[in-house]
Amino acid sequence: MNFPIYRPRRLRKNEHIRRLVRETTLSVDDLILPLFVCPGENVKKPINSMPGNFQLSIDKLVEEVKEVAELNIPGVILFGIPETKDEIGTSGYAHDGIIQSAIKAIKAAKPDTLVITDVCMCEYTSHGHCGFIKKDPLSGKLDVDNDETLKLLVKEALSHAEAGADIVAPSDMMDGRVKLIREALDENGHDNLPIMAYSAKYSSSFYGPFRDAAESPPSFGNRKTYQMDPGNTDEAIREVAQDIEEGADIVMVKPALPYLDIIRRVKDNFDYPIAAYNVSGEFSMIKAAAQNGWLDEKGTALESLSSIKRAGADMILTYWAKDAAKWLQE
Ligand code: PBG
Repeated sequence: MNFPIYRPRRLRKNEHIRRLVRETTLSVDDLILPLFVCPGENVKKPINSMPGNFQLSIDKLVEEVKEVAELNIPGVILFGIPETKDEIGTSGYAHDGIIQSAIKAIKAAKPDTLVITDVCMCEYTSHGHCGFIKKDPLSGKLDVDNDETLKLLVKEALSHAEAGADIVAPSDMMDGRVKLIREALDENGHDNLPIMAYSAKYSSSFYGPFRDAAESPPSFGNRKTYQMDPGNTDEAIREVAQDIEEGADIVMVKPALPYLDIIRRVKDNFDYPIAAYNVSGEFSMIKAAAQNGWLDEKGTALESLSSIKRAGADMILTYWAKDAAKWLQE
């Protein structure tokens, strides 16, 4: 058969041609590593559900951050496991809180490290919810009160900025938080500090391993009254539009792999930098399969990260950041 038609396979037969026509290339420049900070000294406690990840005391965190810099990874995002928790998450906005102290230590040891902080109450509240709990006057049920929570989030974001954070990333999903955080930052001289808003954050079962890692599962109920319903996509567009209007500099879609369509829709609708969070469950399921010999970890991880980028993400928060940085140099 000899028909003069376009044959896509012609461009697949040679590795160098494949390189030339490749549309999406994952780079170390795309990666952000999430890290968990805990109290104590010389602590490097493995997180069972996330092999290769640890709860790190500040001294160990500083060592880790140096390694991250050597691998040329642009930044880290910090999550805190505090000494104490209470109803209103006081340790989350204390000036000597775990995150505030960690930022200062990192900045003292390695000032050029890009430190992003997760701004949320769930790691610091005794009930594990992302904000201030009140009884709903209509239903009588306990629920997170949006507007009371905003006050706590503003305090938390400001305390991170004062400690030296480079980007604050509110992940609570309360309405109106970006605006109030932006105003508070501006009023206190942090007008150049960007906000990375977890804009389309879904109520997802893929956060399971993280909640073990950060010791932050809700002690009652779930997060469905504030995180997004997995069936929705128009709502993601409204959430992103609102966060941009309120002053977000980077918008996030989370999780990543089950929500690639959302990443693409956000990319097509807004000319804005998009972060995607390749969450704990997306990481752990591949890790577990790889440990069983059922999947090749490097191949599946790099393919996952490339897919997230292909969908439209400009940056990816991923527990594979260090491995990927090494694999991409091989
Ligand atoms: C805090 C927060 C969570 C994650 C990031 N920030 C947990 C949650 O909302 O329950 C999940 C990250 C992951 O699963 O890797 N609100």
